[in-house]
Amino acid sequence: MTTIQLPELCLVALVGASGSGKTTLARRMFQPGEVLSSDAFRVLVANDENEQSATNDAFDSLYFVARKRLARGLLTVIDATNVQADARRRIVELAREFDVLPVAIALDLPEDTLVERHRSRTDRPFGAHVIAQQAGLLRRSLRKLQAEGFRQVTVLKTGEDVDTVRVERQR
Ligand code: CTP
Repeated sequence: MTTIQLPELCLVALVGASGSGKTTLARRMFQPGEVLSSDAFRVLVANDENEQSATNDAFDSLYFVARKRLARGLLTVIDATNVQADARRRIVELAREFDVLPVAIALDLPEDTLVERHRSRTDRPFGAHVIAQQAGLLRRSLRKLQAEGFRQVTVLKTGEDVDTVRVERQR
């Protein structure tokens, strides 16, 4: 079983393809207000968590709130796929802006599991090829996370890892 030790104040990036269990993990490990989810912000700005045209507005809003939280010294989690280097660069820059530790928790589940989950979901209207694309981006990202500036990197490789990982927070 994996235990992640988190400092009292940090900026946590969840990194993983759709269906890897980011939102489920975030719900189990963090308080509701600590988790800023791109899906939730798409709902706030456009009523629809799948509205891709709302992505820029959703992230602008998410970052606005993240800045308010970090200015208050509150641990913050960004629940988005974050499989693209640009998305992660923005997170590391934000952490630096507030002088907090950027932390990555990557969910690197087998692609078969992701595709199987995707097939049984009715809430994700895109094709399985999108999952394969995200899983490919993730695989190429894993080695780079440390060099990108994440000071602590955890990679969870199975559904069981994701379901059982624990977080200990320093106070
Ligand atoms: N799921 C599962 N077993 C788990 C975790 C999740 O079967 N251990 C299923 C959930 O029931 C859900 C789907 O996988 O239907 C996606 O879980 P979620 O936590 O929402 O994954 P995310 O990575 O947040 O997916 P997305 O990026 O699409 O929001």
